[in-house]
Amino acid sequence: LREQIRIVQYGLGPIGCEIARLVLQKKTLRLVGGIDIDPDKAGKDIGRLLGLDHNIGVVVEKDASKVLSRANADVILHSTSSSLTHVKDQILSCIDAGTHIVSTTEELSYPFSRSFELARLIDKEAKSRGVSVLGTGVNPGFVMDTLPIFLSSVCQQVESVQVTRVLDASTRRLPLQRKIGAGLTVEEFKREVQDGKLGHVGLLESIAMLSDGVGLGVDRSEQIVEPVVTDRDLETQYLTVKKGEVAGIRNIGRGYRGQSLVVLLHLEMYVGAKNPKDKVTIKGNPNMEFVVEGGTPGDPATVAMIVNAIPKVIEAKPGLISMIDLRLPSILTAM
Ligand SMILES: NC(=O)c1ccc[n+]([C@@H]2O[C@H](COP(=O)([O-])OP(=O)(O)OC[C@H]3O[C@@H](n4cnc5c(N)ncnc54)[C@H](OP(=O)(O)O)[C@@H]3O)[C@@H](O)[C@H]2O)c1
Repeated sequence: LREQIRIVQYGLGPIGCEIARLVLQKKTLRLVGGIDIDPDKAGKDIGRLLGLDHNIGVVVEKDASKVLSRANADVILHSTSSSLTHVKDQILSCIDAGTHIVSTTEELSYPFSRSFELARLIDKEAKSRGVSVLGTGVNPGFVMDTLPIFLSSVCQQVESVQVTRVLDASTRRLPLQRKIGAGLTVEEFKREVQDGKLGHVGLLESIAMLSDGVGLGVDRSEQIVEPVVTDRDLETQYLTVKKGEVAGIRNIGRGYRGQSLVVLLHLEMYVGAKNPKDKVTIKGNPNMEFVVEGGTPGDPATVAMIVNAIPKVIEAKPGLISMIDLRLPSILTAM
């Protein structure tokens, strides 16, 4: 390994910017490039974009191929979109440049069953270039999959896993508040869900990862998305939600083995949610219950996971990998 790992940040929205900020704090990492298509960002020094009072000498560029061919990067940290179809060419161009990839793309976290063909293509290309590709974050990536899989390591048998995550969206970034439909009417919400324009992405990926990681043998999975309607006016830093409008979503995922419900994922993300928490319940021997009071803070946790995964991804076997393949990450991994 080089003394410093050379990093390019691909996508500089709220999450990408915070990833870049954490990279700048790590002695072992060196930010050498930034890519974003937003015309307001392209051409700007990343230091200024982050609100620092000085340039850092790394400018955001629109043309990914230029950055990838010039930067001589070891790892691309990627955060442009949730959809695997949408990011496919971005990921393939990073692989072609011979770099490892750690991405926040939810559908990349465990695409092996739902997006089998795409997963196979990315895996094949990554293996041929000798690089590793990982999708991770807080959820998918931690709360509803990696964490319960890790907890199962102290169980002798597991019959079923249930995870509940309740999140007060007023503490989250604007794209997240938009993604859950905060401020829409119920009709607008239903239309946008139908058009695939809003909602959490990743519940089905978490079910597939959990099933393989714990050996639950899920052979059928499903999810429902419902609006959570507020009975009082609400206000966040970014938007207002009137009584009777949508404050956010309830997304429930179920995984079955035959007729048995073996995975139940219950996600509520809405403005004004009371008692935010993450709760993992494993039925087995022994039973396990694990609660994060207040819930794992989504944005900082995602950023930390992406950065802390870097050295583990570099040492992982080449190909498209998941959190199950990674040697146990921790904060000590990227100093
Ligand atoms: N796994 C997890 O737990 C987790 C957690 C948090 C976030 N995420 C995901 O991470 C992604 C980033 O989050 P965010 O809030 O920062 O999203 P965002 O506000 O949509 O930011 C994405 C940035 O990437 C840019 N971009 C889009 N397509 C691009 C392309 N082809 N080439 C270069 N740049 C491109 C966007 O530019 P424009 O604005 O001009 O399109 C924007 O600046 C989202 O998909 C989010 O759902 C996952």
